[in-house]
Parts: sequence; C-alpha cells; structure tokens
Amino acid sequence: MEFETLLLEVEGPRATLRFNRPEKKNAMNPRMHLDMNLALDQIEAEPDVKVLVITGTGNSFSAGMDLEECFLQPYEDPQLFYRTNLVALKWFQRLKAFPIVTIAQVNGYAFGGGFEVTGLCDLAIAAENVKFGLSEINFGIFPAGGATWAVTHNMPRKQALHYILTGDTLTGREAEQYGLVNRAVPAEDLEAEVDKLVGKIINKNPVTLRLAKEVYEGTTMMDLPRAIDYDQAKLWELARLTSDEWINVALKQFEKRSYQPGLATYKRPEAADDAQRSA
Ligand code: ACO
Repeated sequence: MEFETLLLEVEGPRATLRFNRPEKKNAMNPRMHLDMNLALDQIEAEPDVKVLVITGTGNSFSAGMDLEECFLQPYEDPQLFYRTNLVALKWFQRLKAFPIVTIAQVNGYAFGGGFEVTGLCDLAIAAENVKFGLSEINFGIFPAGGATWAVTHNMPRKQALHYILTGDTLTGREAEQYGLVNRAVPAEDLEAEVDKLVGKIINKNPVTLRLAKEVYEGTTMMDLPRAIDYDQAKLWELARLTSDEWINVALKQFEKRSYQPGLATYKRPEAADDAQRSA
C-alpha cells in the first residue's frame, strides 16, 4: 500500500516507517494521522514482521502536530476539530500497545508529537545532535494527547517538569542521560546503531517478545503478588503458544553447552515462526 505522507518498507522481519513530509519537517497533518492508522493495520497483518522502526525522511524526525492543519484550521468547527485529532489519539495509543517491538530512530527535530512518539516506542536511538522539545508551552498550552504521559513515563520528574514548563530544547545526548532514549550516537552512525539493535531482536522468539512487552506493561500497574500471578499465567500461555520452545529447544541446547544464555540467544528451529503462526 502507498501512502501520501509515509514511506513503508517491509523487508523480512523488519518494517521501517518514515514520516514523509520533509518540506514541513515531517509535521503530522490529518492525512498523516489517517495514514499512520492504515500503516499500523498493514504492519500488524504482516506475519513475518517482528520489529517496527519509525523514523523521518530528510533532516527531521517530526516537528509534531501540524499546527495549522490540525489546530488552527479546524478549530472553529468543534466536531471537525474533535474528529481530526481523535485520529491522532487513536494511533498514539495503538503504537504504545503495538504487538511487535517498536524502535524510534530519531533524527533532526522531534517536537511535541515527535517527542511523544519517541516516548511511546519501546526503544529509541537518537542522533546526538537531535533537538527534542515540548514546545506546547511556547504557544500557550501544555503537552496533551498523551505527550505529558510519554514524558512522565520516560524521564525523571525534575527534568520532565523542566522541559514541560520551559519549552527548552534538549539534545539527543541529554535525552539519553534522562532516559528518553536508550542511546545517542553521532548522526552518521544512527542507522547502523538501529540496524544492530534490530539484529539482536529478530532472532528472538516473536511470541516471547510480544508477551515480554505485555508482562512489562501489565506488571507496572500491579503489586508484587498480583504481578507474580500475572507473569506465571503468561508463562503458561507462552509455553502453550510456542510448544514449550524454551524447554524443548533453548534449554536443551544449554544442556549440550552449545551456547551460553548469559551471552547469546539459542538457535531457533527453522520455520519455528511458521509453526507458531499456524498454531
Ligand atoms: N506545523 C506546521 N508546519 C510546520 C511545523 C508544524 N509543527 N513545523 C514546521 N513547519 C513548517 C514551517 O512552518 C515551514 O513551512 P513554510 O516552508 O511553509 O514556511 C516548514 O515546515 C519548514 O520549517 P522551518 O521553520 O522553515 O524550518 P527550520 O529548520 O528553520 O525550523 C523548527 C524547524 C524549529 C521545527 C520550526 O519549524 C518549528 O518551530 N516548528 C514548530 C515546532 C512545534 O512547535 N511543533 C508543535 C509541537 S506541539 C504538538 O505536537 C502538539
């Protein structure tokens, strides 16, 4: 499927989705929000994809919501304003709960919605010279539509409030220091660093990856006894869905000392993913 505002590339286990309005620094207009929903549908339906990388074309990840097309132009019509922005809120929530691993590859500018997408992805690698910013305060509102949530769930309180209240920008390097991104690297190394991360993920069991995300998200809201009950139930679900691959394959390989689980992953049987999909 072709999109007006996005480029989607699917290569085996990896999907790469690029915001593609470089002349507008990849600001997210209503068309892009519709396209994002469609693209996420398409990626979710791809049986082999295990990782989604989100990045921007040109010299920007995303300058956030298109301030004219999403806010200024529809504002006088409350129904239109509501509908326009609901489409965005839908894919932001969907991205956070996406069943495969999501990685933000952040280049150039990441303001408002671009900052939020970085926070919603599971993992993020940024160029050191990225400019992140919560510019909402600079035009008289506060970060909304999940942006405050994304900040508070990725950064410590003092830093979160600093950037929310001042609109100051922070670099990729500072974002790494405060936990918004996993790593900041020189801009010329950004793609290679993301490729390396993708390479580590794609040889894992995709069912395990999905359930690992669910257990992480689920248990953050639970006390320890509930968290243990929940993770035990998920472990049984995993065992059933994967025909006990962890016991029958991974730990059998350990028994033969063919790998060290502390340092590497086990060798998955050929076509194991196919078998799991048809289960
Ligand atoms: N909404 C609409 N248009 C935008 C946006 C945006 N968020 N960001 C950039 N553009 C447009 C610019 O207006 C300009 O359009 P024009 O060529 O028609 O004049 C074009 O993209 C290129 O941008 P420049 O400002 O010329 O690029 P520059 O590199 O000098 O600056 C910067 C980039 C700093 C990102 C600047 O464009 C900017 O401040 N943009 C707004 C950032 C912002 O506040 N985003 C909203 C966050 S809040 C939220 O998402 C809810």
